[in-house]
Amino acid sequence: MSSNDRVIIFDTTLRDGEQSPGASMTGEEKLRIARALERLKVDVIEAGFAIASPGDFAAVKLVADNIKDSTVCSLARAVDADIERAAEALAGANSGRIHTFIATSPIHMQYKLRMQPDQVVEQAVRAVKKARSLCADVEFSCEDAGRSEIDFLCRIIEAAIDAGARTINIPDTVGYAIPHQYADTIRQLLERIPNADKAVFSVHCHNDLGLAVANSLAAVVAGARQVECTINGLGERAGNAALEEIVMAIKTRQDLLDVHTRIETEHILAASRLVSGITGFPVQPNKAIVGANAFAHESGIHQDGVLKHRETYEIMSAQSVGWNANKMVMGKHSGRAAFRSRLDELGILLEGDELNAAFARFKELADKKHEIFDEDLQALVSDTLADEAPEHFKLASLEVASKTGTIPEAKLVLSVDGAERSAQAQGSGPVDATFKAIEAIADSGATLQLYSVNAITQGTDSQGEVTVRLEKGGRIVNGNGADTDIVVASAKAYLNALNLMQVGAKAHPQVEGV
Ligand code: KIV
Ligand code: ZN
Repeated sequence: MSSNDRVIIFDTTLRDGEQSPGASMTGEEKLRIARALERLKVDVIEAGFAIASPGDFAAVKLVADNIKDSTVCSLARAVDADIERAAEALAGANSGRIHTFIATSPIHMQYKLRMQPDQVVEQAVRAVKKARSLCADVEFSCEDAGRSEIDFLCRIIEAAIDAGARTINIPDTVGYAIPHQYADTIRQLLERIPNADKAVFSVHCHNDLGLAVANSLAAVVAGARQVECTINGLGERAGNAALEEIVMAIKTRQDLLDVHTRIETEHILAASRLVSGITGFPVQPNKAIVGANAFAHESGIHQDGVLKHRETYEIMSAQSVGWNANKMVMGKHSGRAAFRSRLDELGILLEGDELNAAFARFKELADKKHEIFDEDLQALVSDTLADEAPEHFKLASLEVASKTGTIPEAKLVLSVDGAERSAQAQGSGPVDATFKAIEAIADSGATLQLYSVNAITQGTDSQGEVTVRLEKGGRIVNGNGADTDIVVASAKAYLNALNLMQVGAKAHPQVEGV
């Protein structure tokens, strides 16, 4: 296969994925995900939108300074300040990319930008030139290309390539496209734009109609050679095209697609779990590739077939995406070296104090839980790192009384900026009582939008992983906590959400006009 047959995988979990309400990540969390993406051999990692907030800038810089094998990219609107900030954040990258965009659909140009098409072309050209003066690798996106006029797309893209863009992205921003029509758009652009051969054409599909992956693959058949996607399909509204589905479709249907990616697919599951653990967005059991049931055969006929010959009902092997690689990993006799080496295999690189704190947690967990699985280790590390980070609220102790025929009651002590405060409250159940006791101290004014508990592994000794979604003044955050005691996990998740509320809100690239 020639390099022209390679599809560049551009992962935007850390940027578009983070735009899912409540999925915001700290810089350290982004770096952990970026390391997992680098291990997967993702070609380009979009680490954030550097100008959105000081935290976003710091996160892009942290990823750029540490990731060496993938290109690191920052988003920038088509304005000088954004582009300069992106370049500054990427200064330490081995290979950096500035991704600048402007809207090209009539509805966006008229109502959002309030600009004439000529002005949009002029601004795009200026932005691409500015970006090229600061960075050799520049991507230009026509926001809302899915609803833009083809003649206008041809015009602005030709100008952007002339100005120096080497990747041209055609986003279906609102998830409106249908596969054959989107493929036709890509085909026409490649045929009609005279300098199309000087750029890689990229696609970026949202999943509002559940077609993001189908649209991306149709575009690849039509000649697109970069796909923008996210782990678990995380992203704005209904999400983006899921990386794992794109990559496995390409790998499994070589007969039809005749292209390849660099992705080392056996690391997919670990990356999926890491993203789910950090963002608190659980993966639905029937999710393709990474859902708990993706390779489970329930019906007798299927089980029989698979036992006789796996390919009767399986089109890819579970091992090829990381399932069953190492089911039971560790127990209370496992030592520090084995613990560290298993974390390394999971793509979690910890050193010094962080490693010590995680190992101490591991020993505590091993006393309570006989068998410790990879999922336990991932949850344990997320929990340890969250605890190590400077936090406004921390759980010091919790005592819950719950007995049939009485009203459940919680007594807790929190550390609030280092000072201990205690409270007690009754509730309709132990979790409700605990949340009320927390609120008696925090008085946050936030409303609880979602409370969910997931067993991390099987068995009643499994750790419970709790997600708490809080909303205040339109801002939504998801907090997570894990523990073998689900009331403790719930308290941790609630406090994690309250702590996230303290972190400043950031600008949103697609709603803020240029
Ligand atoms: O969906 C979209 O249009 C985007 C662009 C900024 C690429 O995310
Ligand atoms: Zn998007």
